Amino acid sequence: MSAEEPTVHAAVSNGIPAPEIPLPFPDRPEIITSNLLALTDLAPDPRTRLIFRNLITKMHEFITETSITTEEWMSAIQFLTRTGQTCTPLRQEVILLSDVLGVSALVDALNNPAVGSATESSVLGPFYTEDALDVEQGESIASEGKGEYMFVEGRVLATDGTPISNAAIETWETDANGYYDTQYSDRAAPDCRGRVHSDADGRFAYRAVVPVAYPIPGDGPVGDLLLLLRRHNIRPNHLHLMIDAPGYRKLTTAVYPEGDPYLSSDVVFGVKKSLVVKLTDVNDEAEARKRGFAKGSTFKLLNFDIVLVTEEEAEAAAKQRAQEAAHIAGARL
Ligand code: BEZ
Ligand code: FE
Repeated sequence: MSAEEPTVHAAVSNGIPAPEIPLPFPDRPEIITSNLLALTDLAPDPRTRLIFRNLITKMHEFITETSITTEEWMSAIQFLTRTGQTCTPLRQEVILLSDVLGVSALVDALNNPAVGSATESSVLGPFYTEDALDVEQGESIASEGKGEYMFVEGRVLATDGTPISNAAIETWETDANGYYDTQYSDRAAPDCRGRVHSDADGRFAYRAVVPVAYPIPGDGPVGDLLLLLRRHNIRPNHLHLMIDAPGYRKLTTAVYPEGDPYLSSDVVFGVKKSLVVKLTDVNDEAEARKRGFAKGSTFKLLNFDIVLVTEEEAEAAAKQRAQEAAHIAGARL
């Protein structure tokens, strides 16, 4: 083939034959919906059928009931196209869209229902990295000068109060500027993040800095959407935690110091009441020195316990929630 010869980007048949079910011509809007539902019912996997039946029914209802115009449809297409195009290996604008529309928090809440006194989950967010270093008990996850001192301590427990030893606690937070280490172009090593292990009594303790509220990226299509809706783009200050212990359901959560004005309107709906914590001022230099903080310093103390559920408890709770959902869906039909 010579260099000038054009190539044809032809689509090829996927090999699936025309369906053997009678379908009327889609001459009226509602026939488009009913034909698509009939075709969807031919999908072999029952879960796929259920998901797409619901999606199609609700999406078509939404378009019909809001009388979406051609211009509105086109601007939605352009918005979604831009959202995809904004993604890079370091930036996930599609997940951010899911976050601000409450979809990430909803999926998380439905898949990790509250179990008694167990610590509730919260959104993971895009700033988790896999390179956090192990930090010894009482040591610091933050380099000097990263913010106001905070000492974090507590216990990892099972729902019956039994201490869980050797639980790996990954933790990450912003510095006093409201930035994660990954947002600095000169990041040389992980900072304001680390991995602590609970001791034989389930205790954990580490030095950190007081995290601050920060805006999620506002320079892309998701930022434009928030402006269109006149919504702020702030996450209240928080400390992320991911706790892993053998036999227990891995927990991704965060704790949110009380008093932040954005707690109940968190742009990504991550704050649950049970995750709001108290920071206590410790204006005592001797206590600060005892914990390894610099001379002449004071600090804030954050004390909270993490209660994990076993795999069995998590399964039972998820099953019960699914049954309740099916019951509600059945009652609606
Ligand atoms: C975060 O807390 O790191 C986060 C979560 C969702 C979207 C943006 C940031
Ligand atoms: Fe965060």
